Amino acid sequence: MHIVSGDKLAELSRILHEKENAQEYSPDFTFSLEDYYGPYSERQKAQGKLYYEGLGIARDDEEGRRRVLGYNHSFFNAPHAALLFMPSFGDNVRVAGDIGMYGQTFLLSLAARGLGGVPQTLLGLFSGAIREFLNIPDEYKMLFGISFGFPDEQAPANRIKTDRAPISQSVTFHS
Ligand SMILES: Cc1cc2nc3c(=O)[nH]c(=O)nc-3n(C[C@H](O)[C@H](O)[C@H](O)COP(=O)(O)O)c2cc1C
Repeated sequence: MHIVSGDKLAELSRILHEKENAQEYSPDFTFSLEDYYGPYSERQKAQGKLYYEGLGIARDDEEGRRRVLGYNHSFFNAPHAALLFMPSFGDNVRVAGDIGMYGQTFLLSLAARGLGGVPQTLLGLFSGAIREFLNIPDEYKMLFGISFGFPDEQAPANRIKTDRAPISQSVTFHS
């Protein structure tokens, strides 16, 4: 994991905004919302609707949506960003699972100390650019990032409460 703060974070943010404007992406792993189907696609759309509505952005407000997307490239104004890199083994599925668990534990340990973290898969779109900026060897692949700091509880985004699928939909019990 690499943690970036201060002037270095400001410089990285400038680079990410530039890359986004030029639509210059360098992901290590593919990601497309179009791959989502059925309930997964429905939940993703419902979450997006809740989020944009919570921020007062109408569906046809292109400029507002771009601005909200841009919060990602500014690390949601957090003072630190953790970028999670992994060595590449085989098809990478197992190591990606390990990194997911590591990230979740990191989020929980932040919460236990009164801090907050925003997991951001979107940062993975800029893996190559981030690797170059931080001088990280090519054999390390980036999965996602987590911006973190003390949360602003008054910020509109922090008042939005995302739904959870009920246990009856997500767990099958066998006995
Ligand atoms: C694994 C993961 C990746 C996410 N990636 C992004 C992202 O790249 N950009 C973003 O704006 N929100 C992203 N989100 C959603 C926000 O972090 C979301 O607001 C947050 O998950 C809501 O809080 P909650 O999960 O506690 O309900 C992601 C969430 C998760 C769990």
